[in-house]
Amino acid sequence: MKKIIKGGLIATASDVYEADIFIENGKIVQIGKDLTILDAEIVDATGKYVMPGGIDPHTHLDMPFNNTVTDDDWKSGTIAAAFGGTTTILDFCLTAGEEKLSTAVEKWHAKAKGKSAIDYGFHLMIGDLTPETEAELPVLLEQQGITSVKVFMAYAKEFQATDRTLFKAFKIAKDVGAVVMVHCENGSVIDELVEEAKRAGHTEPIYHALTRPVELEGEATKRAIELAHIAGAKLYVVHVTCKEAVDEIIAAREKGYDVYGETCPPYLTLDQSALAQPGFEGAKYVWSPPLRPKYHQEHLWNALKAKQLQTIGSDQCSFSFNGKKQLGLNDFSKIPNGGPFIEDRFSILYSEGVTTGKISINEFVDMVSTSAAKIFGLYPQKGTIAIDSDADIVIFDPQVKREISAKTHHMNVDYNPYEGWEVTGEPISVLVRGEYVIKDKEFVGVLGSGQYLKRGLKPATAETIKI
Ligand code: URP
Ligand code: ZN
Ligand code: ZN
Ligand code: ZN
Repeated sequence: MKKIIKGGLIATASDVYEADIFIENGKIVQIGKDLTILDAEIVDATGKYVMPGGIDPHTHLDMPFNNTVTDDDWKSGTIAAAFGGTTTILDFCLTAGEEKLSTAVEKWHAKAKGKSAIDYGFHLMIGDLTPETEAELPVLLEQQGITSVKVFMAYAKEFQATDRTLFKAFKIAKDVGAVVMVHCENGSVIDELVEEAKRAGHTEPIYHALTRPVELEGEATKRAIELAHIAGAKLYVVHVTCKEAVDEIIAAREKGYDVYGETCPPYLTLDQSALAQPGFEGAKYVWSPPLRPKYHQEHLWNALKAKQLQTIGSDQCSFSFNGKKQLGLNDFSKIPNGGPFIEDRFSILYSEGVTTGKISINEFVDMVSTSAAKIFGLYPQKGTIAIDSDADIVIFDPQVKREISAKTHHMNVDYNPYEGWEVTGEPISVLVRGEYVIKDKEFVGVLGSGQYLKRGLKPATAETIKI
């Protein structure tokens, strides 16, 4: 019940300092030097960073997609997340056509129940609004404590919403104070380019990237920005990949629009050439938007550094290479879109960002935890180390080196896009509400102990936290 984390270097989004942390009943109750509480268990953090638990704002666990379903469910997905320093995930609850939105939310609760090893919340997808679902939406968001809805401008055959639906979603979200997360790519034009490429006889994975040009991400980003602005809503652009989209976000923020942006580890570290490898190897790197030519990476790093992009999501959406990815062996457009990133989010960002000097340790904490907590209504319960906050804590060894490999990762997929990469820095122990989930690199958590997080909706006002 009682623990003292001793001897570590506390790192938050704003500070780095030496202090002990006293935890009781799942909360942080005291922070100070040389704390002694007689009946508290001592957690030795000497030589380690003590950080707020990671918040991954973008996961797809056990999700039906591209005629199949993702390979990581709420068991393997949340165990892998915990190994990677994440103590809360926000997963996308899919909805379908005319089905009641509450039915979709119940389905998502059932997926997580008894399985999640860490805390979680949902973003609610809006694909099509009928008069019934339009009436249901604000009530459901309030009842479920959901502060974020998701709209796809891509995947014309599956999830894509019309501009009219997107605009209506912005209006409703504005009225209730929710943020709208948008996948910004022009899905209709992409579909046409895909058909053209197939007619020309192209089947290889690289055509996934070649049929989704950066201009169509930039254009959709700009469209989402203007529609959100007219509606007066808050916009969060998911998985930003390229200069074209970054430039639109920066321009909007400079005009004072309420626009936030997320990017993901692979866009910062891998490039389009990965899809052009011989044979079918490139399928391991098929997700949307696609990997871009390398020069886009510096635009993403710079935008993160300047806080024009605020968060790092994993976009965990895993399909095994020798399994479901093979659906697209003879047709790139049938390769299930997505990759496994929930576990290595901290390691990649720390190793490629902090140890290279691109970002500071405070910026790192902000990107993997604090900003997401603020944007999605979890702060200060989550996302920081402060008195009364949940004791979601990562003890992070900044020195240790390890090699990323599918042989040792905990995700339920047979490959890792970072196979063979040596990274520096690793979560050693991870606590959720004061209880170990990972202890000395072993999973000791309890499946089903993760709690559903009801978040608080507040009408959007000028005082809305600005980042
Ligand atoms: O390819 C991806 N990103 N798969 C997950 C769905 C999405 O677009 O986020
Ligand atoms: Zn997306
Ligand atoms: Zn070809
Ligand atoms: Zn996604």
